[in-house]
Amino acid sequence: MNYARSIEFFERARQVVAGGVNSNVRAASHPVPLFYREGRGARLFDVDGNEYIDYCLGQGPLLLGHSHPRVLDAVRQQLERGQLYAGQHELEILVAEKLRQHIPCAELVRFSSSGSEAVHIALRVARAFTGRTKIVKFEGHYHGWLDNILVSVNPETLDRQPVRESRGQPESVLEDVIVLPWNDATQLHETLAAFAQQIAAVIMEPVMCNTGCIPPEPGYLETARELCTRYGIVLIFDEIITGFRLGLGGAQAFFGVTPDLAVFGKALGSGFPISCLAGKRALMEGIANFSVVHAGTYNANPVSLAAAWATLEELEQNGETHYRTLFTLGEKLMRGIAEIAERQGRSVTVQGLGPMFHVAFTRRSRIRDAREYRDVDVAEYAAFAYRLQERGIRVIPRGIWYLSTAHTEEDIARTLERVAAALPTVPRCGGGRSR
Ligand SMILES: Cc1ncc(COP(=O)(O)O)c(C=O)c1O
Repeated sequence: MNYARSIEFFERARQVVAGGVNSNVRAASHPVPLFYREGRGARLFDVDGNEYIDYCLGQGPLLLGHSHPRVLDAVRQQLERGQLYAGQHELEILVAEKLRQHIPCAELVRFSSSGSEAVHIALRVARAFTGRTKIVKFEGHYHGWLDNILVSVNPETLDRQPVRESRGQPESVLEDVIVLPWNDATQLHETLAAFAQQIAAVIMEPVMCNTGCIPPEPGYLETARELCTRYGIVLIFDEIITGFRLGLGGAQAFFGVTPDLAVFGKALGSGFPISCLAGKRALMEGIANFSVVHAGTYNANPVSLAAAWATLEELEQNGETHYRTLFTLGEKLMRGIAEIAERQGRSVTVQGLGPMFHVAFTRRSRIRDAREYRDVDVAEYAAFAYRLQERGIRVIPRGIWYLSTAHTEEDIARTLERVAAALPTVPRCGGGRSR
């Protein structure tokens, strides 16, 4: 592949944009963070004219693929009528009504613009409701980049104590966070019983998608639900990734466990900035009576809501086909990658649910939590991601693959051919360490 223009653009970008990228995670690409000029369906085109089958999909939001006509039409129509009113408009009601119809915990909702903001208001609501301050989160789970929750995400730096992920985060944030291993019902039980009077909320990704793609152990979500109810603790599902990807009702409908609060983003807006806090009426009452502050210039902006409306309409009307495609093709791809790796004698584990899954170089046949994830060879995967990019397949360099409804059987077959060609060129870095 020729990346000459991307390299040139990146040199220019570095002169004016800090680090040359506008989100730290984008820096991980080789030979430089690429510049793109067009996305269509499951395809992405860079400024050098290279074409990719895209499994990054905007880091998840493009559930319907790039430039879905229904979404773009709705946005175009809205743009003709203005982009921001700082006032009420009907789409707020229409989208909220749809969310209430599909999402079990969504008795009331509030819109924001990013997942991090939605998490922020969820934690504030939980603290206001309970009058307590501590939050329980889990190792490896990511809930956005804001100070009070960016704790103990990176498996490599996990410690027995909560760990800040960024310079500049005040040490004081750690006072209010309790970090536990995920999928360990016993530890959760012991901690909630011991500190019940101080804990406002338990927050989790109901499928841990930010460190591997790790589903909950059977019964784990139910146990968390039962314990939170017993101790008067607010259960928050961070559905920024699972929302709409596992079904219109998110992970909570998929697994049949209803949290008190949930946050949605990414796929809700098909790439337009929107997020949402959805929750039980009693909890949302703090916002409803305005004693809990939630504000934002861009909250519920009509352009993003038009995109959300069109996305939900599409999923409602063609959901059966779409979710069948996402699960069937995703599982086919997962199986195919695992079979190729096995044939080639590579230690690769593929796990997840289909619409999103994770590929890891490791000797472990299964990864169950962030500590086990430390046996994943991330350098080997990054090399694999680059070899795939060289063959026209775009994946996120840290292992997660997203499917869209625009991917076809042919895309999957082509992808598997390229996986088979790329894998032998990936240097063996050790296939995962054993601890
Ligand atoms: C589970 C989860 N929660 C929250 C966020 C933060 O969302 P945003 O990047 O829109 O602020 C992310 C982003 O990747 C996420 O994966």
